[in-house]
Amino acid sequence: MTKNTPAPALLKDPNSGKEWELPIRSGSVGPQAVDVSKLYGQSGLFTYDPGFTSTAACDSGITYIDGEEGILLHRGYRIEDLAQNCSFLEVCHLLLHGALPNAQEKSAFEDSIRYHTMLHEQMLMFYRGFRRDSHPMAIMVGVVGALSAFYHDSTDINDPEQRLLAQYRLIAKMPTIAAMAYKYSVGQPFMYPQNSRSFTENFLYMTFGVPAEEYAPPPAFVSAMERILILHADHEQNASTSTVRTAGSSGANPFACISSGIASLWGPAHGGANEAVLSMLREIGHPDRIPEFITRAKDKNDPFRLMGFGHRVYKNYDPRAKVLQSHAHEVLESVGRKDEPLMALALQLEQIALQDEYFIERKLFPNVDFYSGIILEAMGFPTSMFTVLFAVARTVGWVAHWNEMISAEGALRITRPRQLYTGEPERPFVPLDER
Ligand code: SDX
Repeated sequence: MTKNTPAPALLKDPNSGKEWELPIRSGSVGPQAVDVSKLYGQSGLFTYDPGFTSTAACDSGITYIDGEEGILLHRGYRIEDLAQNCSFLEVCHLLLHGALPNAQEKSAFEDSIRYHTMLHEQMLMFYRGFRRDSHPMAIMVGVVGALSAFYHDSTDINDPEQRLLAQYRLIAKMPTIAAMAYKYSVGQPFMYPQNSRSFTENFLYMTFGVPAEEYAPPPAFVSAMERILILHADHEQNASTSTVRTAGSSGANPFACISSGIASLWGPAHGGANEAVLSMLREIGHPDRIPEFITRAKDKNDPFRLMGFGHRVYKNYDPRAKVLQSHAHEVLESVGRKDEPLMALALQLEQIALQDEYFIERKLFPNVDFYSGIILEAMGFPTSMFTVLFAVARTVGWVAHWNEMISAEGALRITRPRQLYTGEPERPFVPLDER
């Protein structure tokens, strides 16, 4: 054991008296980990951690979260600094390549992404197969998975060039696919990307522009959307990123893996919460009804939870929620809705909840989803598009983690957890006429 190697943990089986040494592993910052990868082979014992509340599933150098302090770093930079000073594509470069780009790298990266914003023309046919009232997340899961039917020259996961091409294609095409899902739902023609526009401006143009007239998104919208994309870009081993890693561990192609991430993000406990927050605020309707909903959120017999509140990792204010709260005011002001009742309701709900013992004791604070919906609704997005926007932003995090896993030292190992079996022990077969 060298000077810097921590002493191993000791596991003792009280029944047999047997003991096992388990190595302790340290990251660059944050909690150490007990390495249990050899435990079953040595002891015949599994570890047990449903929901992985205490489990580090991998090594990663992309994002670090200090949940107690409410700190979020991307490659070492604070999310507040990135949101304040960067474009979304600068943050994409940081997440993918590990460094903020200089001016020349930034311009080259923007060109690389811009080059891939269009979709194969035949893919537009997929949209025609969906009902107009399909949830756009259903369309995203389908169309993104179908990219693997078209872009065969970027599906070989063992070729670093093809992996990079797949990452750029996914980041570039998600806004186009998302905007087309919206256009299809409102019966308007698809708008093709205009690469003279910035990434974010292009997305807003493809969503809200129409062929009949010029469209320039309000600067406040471009700024707010840029922040929203940055704040949703990556978040360590969250459910959808873990889904992408698991899918990728079998060697599945990158488009199929990202489609699995979109499916996981859709759930209301995860990325679907931003849509659920708006529905919840509309259901509460008036500040007088807040106590009724706080009571329901605390009632174990009531499935209702305060959407946009609580987090598996943050036991403090989600730093992203703070930035979004300030941008919500800016966007509402820019559309003449400074006194938006939904915003006032959200602020009052937050204030009351944060003074309630139940929320204080469980360290339940607003998370990234609590304010994002209010901004998106003010910009004209229907609630059904909120999680789609989360997916557009999170694609860079998904592909960064996917690539980090595939390109890591050593052979790729398939993710295959075990279980604590609680079913029937072996029993003799009973023929039909004896049942
Ligand atoms: C995202 O993982 C990520 O990083 C995700 C994300 C990302 O960027 O990828 O940050 C994005 O998904 C944010 C979370 C969005 N989801 C919501 O806002 C839905 C509402 N929140 C909850 O469903 C919940 O807080 C979770 C799912 C976010 C976290 O669930 P955990 O970690 O499993 O927490 P838990 O269920 O064990 O809760 C601990 C206690 C429980 O009470 P007790 O059993 O201890 O009495 O807190 C209670 C829970 O009932 N609780 C809530 C609550 N969240 C937790 N009670 C009321 N309202 C809530 N929102």
